Amino acid sequence: MLIVIIICTLLYLILNIQHNNLERTLKEAGKNHNLFIGTAVNGEVLDKDEDYANLIKNEFSLITPENEMKFSVIHPDVDKFDFSESDKIVKFALENDIKVRGHTLVWNKRIPEWLEKGNYSKEEMEHILKNHIFTVMEHYKGQIYAWDVVNEAFNNDGSLKDSIWLRTIGPEYIKKSFEWAKEADPNALLFYNDYSAEVINDKSNAIYKMIEQFKKEGTPIDGIGFQFHTSLHQKFTQKELIKNMKRFSEIGVKVNITELDVKLSDTVASSKVKYEKQANQYSVVLKSCLKIDNDCTSFGMWGLTDKYTWLKDDSPLIFNEEFEKKPSYDALISILTKK
Ligand code: XIL
Repeated sequence: MLIVIIICTLLYLILNIQHNNLERTLKEAGKNHNLFIGTAVNGEVLDKDEDYANLIKNEFSLITPENEMKFSVIHPDVDKFDFSESDKIVKFALENDIKVRGHTLVWNKRIPEWLEKGNYSKEEMEHILKNHIFTVMEHYKGQIYAWDVVNEAFNNDGSLKDSIWLRTIGPEYIKKSFEWAKEADPNALLFYNDYSAEVINDKSNAIYKMIEQFKKEGTPIDGIGFQFHTSLHQKFTQKELIKNMKRFSEIGVKVNITELDVKLSDTVASSKVKYEKQANQYSVVLKSCLKIDNDCTSFGMWGLTDKYTWLKDDSPLIFNEEFEKKPSYDALISILTKK
C-alpha cells in the first residue's frame, strides 16, 4: 500500500513539473485561455538588441509595431510608400510564429506634412485615405491578424476628435475606413482602438453607440481595443472593467487589451510597494479580460522592458531595465497558470 502511495505521489510530482515547465512563459500559459499575449515592438531596437528579440520570441504570441506602420512613416510622400521598417517586424513575427497587430491606418496623429498642408478637397481626401488603406493592407494581405483600423477618434466627452479626416471627409470617415479595410483584406480582424474608454463613461458610451450602429447597418467591425495606458493613480475595479467589456462582447465584438502599461507616476512609497501595486493593476486587467469568456482574445502591453518604453521615467512594464521579471510578470503568469 505504502509503495503505491509513494509511486502515485512521484507520478503526480513529475507530471506537475512537466506541466509547469510547458507553461513557463506567458505565451504558453496564455494558450490555456485561447489568449494571445502581446507587446509593442520597436523595430530599431529589434535590429540591434538580441536579448530584446529573444525575450519577445519566448514570451509573446502577438506583436504590434510601435511606430513603423503609422501614416507618416509608411506613406511619407504623396506617391511614396515605405515599408522597409514595418517589413522587418512582420518578417520577424512570421518567422517566429507570432501574430501581428497592424497599427494603425487612420489616426489624427503622425500626419505627414504633404497631407497636412495639401489643402485637398473632400473627394481628394477620400481618395487618399482609400488608397492608403488599400495599399498598406494589400501589401500585408494574409500576414496581419488584426488591424487597428481607426485609432483614437473620440474626445473624452464623447464628441468626435478634431482631425484632418473629420474636417475634410466628415464623421463618415470612420465607417468608410472600415468598409475599405474589409474590401482590402477580408480575412484580417478589424478593430476600433482608443484610450480612456476602459470603464463606462462618455467616451466608451459614444464608441458603444457607434459600434451598435455599425452592427445594425452591417458596417464591418470585429472588435474594440482598449489601450489601457494607466498609472497607479488611476482607480478602476475589476467589476467596472468587466461591466464595460461585457456590453461590447454582447453586441458581437471581440475585446482586446492593446496597449497596457502602468506608470508608477510620483507615488510615494518604497520600490517594493510600488511594484506590488503595479502588479495588482496588471492583475485586475488580466482577470477582467479572462472573465469575458471567449471574446477577450488578446492581452497586449505597450512594450516589455523598462529599458525601452515611451514612458522612460515611469517603469511601466513587466520586465525591468535588466530584462528581469518584475512582480507584475509573476502576477500575470500565476493568474494564467491557475486552473
Ligand atoms: C506612441 C509611441 O509609443 C511613441 O514611441 C511615439 O513617440 C508616440 O506614440 N496611443 C497609441 C500609440 O495608439 O500609437 C502611441 O504610441 C501611444 C498612445
